[in-house]
Amino acid sequence: MRHSEACERNKRVILEVLAALLPQCSTVLEIGSGTAQHAVHFTKQMPGLRWQCSDLAENLPGIQARVDLEGDDLLPNPIELNVLTANWPAGRFDAVFTANTLHIMPWDHTLVLLDQVVKVLVPGGRLIIYGPFHDSGIHTAASNAAFDRSLKSRDPDMGVRDAVEITAQAARRGLHAEADLALPANNRTLIFRQASSIPQKT
Ligand SMILES: C[S@@+](CC[C@H](N)C(=O)[O-])C[C@H]1O[C@@H](n2cnc3c(N)ncnc32)[C@H](O)[C@@H]1O
Repeated sequence: MRHSEACERNKRVILEVLAALLPQCSTVLEIGSGTAQHAVHFTKQMPGLRWQCSDLAENLPGIQARVDLEGDDLLPNPIELNVLTANWPAGRFDAVFTANTLHIMPWDHTLVLLDQVVKVLVPGGRLIIYGPFHDSGIHTAASNAAFDRSLKSRDPDMGVRDAVEITAQAARRGLHAEADLALPANNRTLIFRQASSIPQKT
């Protein structure tokens, strides 16, 4: 089972954000669950929250191991979900959550993610994105600028994403910016809300 120190550091502050946003018994789809430490922490601290982990196939065994060891009925088995796939879950969710994924996947994948999220959210549902961001191409923290350089040296398709651009792309799809919360270590949580009419599934 993999372990993320970053998750241990940020899970409490993210929980505070989620607890203020999500009514009891919400259903959440997480994209890129990684180690599933967030999923376990959030479902333990928010009774009634039903949290669907997902990730690329290669990460599923580790997530499954943690779910088996630490999860319960409200933390079902993880599902394979590459945002590029056509096979997004058939159900609808009160929220889609993703942490520290957008700077890992190529920018084009984020656009597909936004396209698909619109189809799996209930009317009024929220997209909640945690991670480092810059604004209109300008880094807001030296640590994020250094992180961006290190990501791009690993893979030119990776990089800290632009909150302004994400917000504009989300708005085109009917996901309206609700909040942009500054969190420790120069991370942020961007929160978008789905319009009230239901888009047709394709
Ligand atoms: C840095 S890890 C973050 C994991 C976890 N959310 C956390 O906060 O620790 C990035 C995650 O994004 C996932 N990921 C990358 N590309 C993806 C894609 N195209 N579709 C779905 N998940 C993807 C990776 O498999 C990995 O689990």
